Amino acid sequence: MNPTAPDIKSPASVSRLRCINCGAEADRADQDFRCPSCGDLFEVFYPGWQSGQGLTAGQPADALKQLWRDRKTSLALADTSGVWRFRELLPALKSGFEPITLREGNTPLYDLPRCARSAGVQFLQAKHQGMNPTASFKDTGMTTASSFARQEGFRWVACASTGNTSASMAAYAARGGMRSLVLIPEGKISWGKLSQSLDYGAVTCQLRTDFDGCVRVLNELVKRKPIYLLNSVNPYRIEGQKTAGVELLEQLNWQSPDHIVVPGGNLGNSSAIGKALVEMKDLGLITRLPKLSVIQAEGANPFFRSIHEHAGKKLIPTQADTLATAIRIGNPASWKKALRVVQATGGVVEQVTEIEMAMAKAEIGADGVGCEPASAVTLAGLKKLVKRGFVKSNESVVLILTGHVLKDPEFTLKFHRGDLFSGTQHEKDAGSLAPLQRAPIVLDATMDAVAKTLEQFENEGRQ
Ligand code: F0G
Repeated sequence: MNPTAPDIKSPASVSRLRCINCGAEADRADQDFRCPSCGDLFEVFYPGWQSGQGLTAGQPADALKQLWRDRKTSLALADTSGVWRFRELLPALKSGFEPITLREGNTPLYDLPRCARSAGVQFLQAKHQGMNPTASFKDTGMTTASSFARQEGFRWVACASTGNTSASMAAYAARGGMRSLVLIPEGKISWGKLSQSLDYGAVTCQLRTDFDGCVRVLNELVKRKPIYLLNSVNPYRIEGQKTAGVELLEQLNWQSPDHIVVPGGNLGNSSAIGKALVEMKDLGLITRLPKLSVIQAEGANPFFRSIHEHAGKKLIPTQADTLATAIRIGNPASWKKALRVVQATGGVVEQVTEIEMAMAKAEIGADGVGCEPASAVTLAGLKKLVKRGFVKSNESVVLILTGHVLKDPEFTLKFHRGDLFSGTQHEKDAGSLAPLQRAPIVLDATMDAVAKTLEQFENEGRQ
């Protein structure tokens, strides 16, 4: 234990668990993180916070903002993490326990000028959560939840995953001296993500099922074995992921954008960012709530259908299918939490086609940023929200990009070679993607051959 590490406990961060359905409160959850009374999910809440007054720890909003800014120059372990830097808004670890951190968070906010033109808005930015240590947004929640797993003395942690949660969990377990068990759907996750969990030393099981089937198996397993569950039903994950929203507002000098657009799979991330927005408003850190909108792939759209076919009253699980394997999820665990924050902020839920998503991914790449397919549904969805008048052209928009462009190179290569949709029902519409395709060009090793290619591009006026 590092004796110079700060004590990250503060009176403001004394937290409890509360069931989102029946309101039952608890100090700790059972291993499946379900309410023992009604079976719904828990959320973390902070009895020490006073609505609209800032925190009762004697730190009003302005002082907190200054404290968080000052910590950027600190060398203390917790301060170098873009998550624990905001620890007044997080559950506290017990005295003497350090967080497991890979210096997550601290992710960039980029302008996307080309994408803005394509979507028809003047101000478009992307908060790139793919710039985290294991290249996805999962790290911000994994630092908190894995730290609680270690504090509780667990030797094993586990998750079901479409690839990013497992990569992140495996890394944090390894850093924290714990073993990790990964359940992934066989053949349905990208090689990059699979290779990460192998490298970080996880016991990796490829189950002959989909993501939802992996979740089912894991839920049974954690009731029988002493394993700590690290899926996003674990409310300590949501608390860490919340900080992406706080860091975003800090980067915008606490001026709320008009819209934040998030991809939706299991719906933990939208819940987390929405929780951050509502809490920041409540604590006086911001004065206006951005509208939080969630975008799903058409082939994995149970949340979209819940809203549009059942007014959000129920969610009927679907058989999910999309090339954006990260969000190939038919039965999202956190849909009620996501619904609550979409409604609280006045956002909407939209869906996009495979072609729209592929086009948007290439456009984000062409802005020099890049992301994995699931993240690109945000831009594709934004275009639709502009068309239907929900987003006005003079409103400011931030897309949350969730995964790095290198997470799924197979998708990118197939896109540029022009065979991403070969043999699929989308093949007939794929012609619209041609202007963005940049297949590698094989040439003789002569200056002339290369110069000629260059001239061809110039003459055709290709960007
Ligand atoms: N984007 C990426 C890159 C993801 O990996 C995920 C989820 C999402 C978006 C959707 O986020 O589930 O919080 O709504 N990936 C999970 C996983 C399910 O296992 O890696 P969500």
